Amino acid sequence: MSSEYLLAIDQGTTSSRALVFNRKFEVLACAQAPFAQHFPDDGWVEHDAEEIWQSVLSTCRDALQQAGIGADQVAGIGITNQRETTVVWHRDTGQPIAPAIVWQDRRTQPRCAQLREQGLEPQIQAKTGLLLDPYFSATKIQWLLDNTDGARALAAQGKLACGTIDSWLLWRLTEGQAHKTDATNASRTQLYNLTSGQWDDDLLDQFDVPRSLLPEVADNTAEFGRCASHWFGAAIPVLAMVGDQQAALLGQACIAKGQAKCTFGTGAFLMVNAGRDIPQSQHRLLTTLAYRINGESTFANEGSLFVAGAAVQWLRDGAGLIDSAHACNQLMADYAGKLSPVTWVPAFTGLGAPYWDPAARGAVFGLTRDTSRADLVVGALQSIALQTHDLLSALHADGVAISELRTDGGMTNNAAFLQCLADVLQLSIYRPAQEEMTVLGAAYLTALQLGWLNTLTDIHSLWHAHSSCNPALSDKQHKTLLQRWHRAVAATQLFAK
Ligand code: G3P
Repeated sequence: MSSEYLLAIDQGTTSSRALVFNRKFEVLACAQAPFAQHFPDDGWVEHDAEEIWQSVLSTCRDALQQAGIGADQVAGIGITNQRETTVVWHRDTGQPIAPAIVWQDRRTQPRCAQLREQGLEPQIQAKTGLLLDPYFSATKIQWLLDNTDGARALAAQGKLACGTIDSWLLWRLTEGQAHKTDATNASRTQLYNLTSGQWDDDLLDQFDVPRSLLPEVADNTAEFGRCASHWFGAAIPVLAMVGDQQAALLGQACIAKGQAKCTFGTGAFLMVNAGRDIPQSQHRLLTTLAYRINGESTFANEGSLFVAGAAVQWLRDGAGLIDSAHACNQLMADYAGKLSPVTWVPAFTGLGAPYWDPAARGAVFGLTRDTSRADLVVGALQSIALQTHDLLSALHADGVAISELRTDGGMTNNAAFLQCLADVLQLSIYRPAQEEMTVLGAAYLTALQLGWLNTLTDIHSLWHAHSSCNPALSDKQHKTLLQRWHRAVAATQLFAK
């Protein structure tokens, strides 16, 4: 039987999804499973890696069943994943030695501060493109080895493996036959040298991570390994792996230098294709690997916000202000064109770029007796647009000009939010016709490896706009909004000191 389909896995921060695509990149089936978020302490965020694996396994099986196809009709699997989240597991049993430390987790803040005091940040940034922050995997691996009973001894005996979620899933899919990662995920660990394209020995020393734990680094398209045939009924090859934000960059067809996308998922991630030269930010943005194909690396400027959709989730689950994410859209639609008098700083897990303040915590300013639920909800969404504005300012200061922004992620289903974004960023905002940018990026890479696409440039013509928004706010309103926002951020940071 010919293999006419591919299976793309999107292992995200709050749920796992599996989609079946045909050769025309039409979605034939989609299965999704949420999993538990654990917050054991202030600023700590953990996942159960075993639960993640089970959710991936069940969604893949469901998707194949929904599509009505057998595993022998699947030509390949592509994996995209939440980045930085770190798992350490036992090589013999395949069992994690501790809960996975999630990218949002702040527990390694003291270690980052220590390294900064030692003056290491400029050197680390020059090598990895990343700043010293608990966000990245290196201090998370170190923490797991130092704080899990017996872990250092097992590591010394070569009994442990570690990796980001891509490696963890590959290990489980192949039953330990493959311990690999791809260069985009590697570039988020803070152990990968962007220039050499390899793990960096000095960084391994500085973060006290034994090389023996780390996976082999491959291109985004490669023969990563074959699934054990009993999982799905055939040994499907894994042909692509890619970090979810880089996948969305490809899904959005941002393959020319200067093209930009922002994905509003749990967090928000603005990424600009920077071409073949490694950019160095002078304004607290990140440099990351966009994709590596046939050994050739393309880089990207990135601004990362830790909280976007997570604020909506908190409005629903934490504060009980709305009963569904959709209610948020309705409240904002009623409110279109009118700014909220309430200013939020959604620093629930510290502030990401360009502030990098792990100690900051959320705040709301401007409450009065007539503050309504709508004011609070709209203010929260407005704050996501305002944070994105700061990313754009930092990019401009670094000399990176953007003429338009392609957006995706759950929050972009809210038309009023997109208008607010256009107003605040003073930029044309586009939403693509296809919804699944992240998983589509993984599907494109898998198709590239299969030869269903000849080159990456083929994806240019596959992108179509669904809608666009243009800025409509007056200069005066814009100025007032930004003034309030920056005062609120400064006050929040002061409070955290
Ligand atoms: O860097 C973290 C990012 O990869 C998480 O993405 O979509 O799960 O919020 P998402």
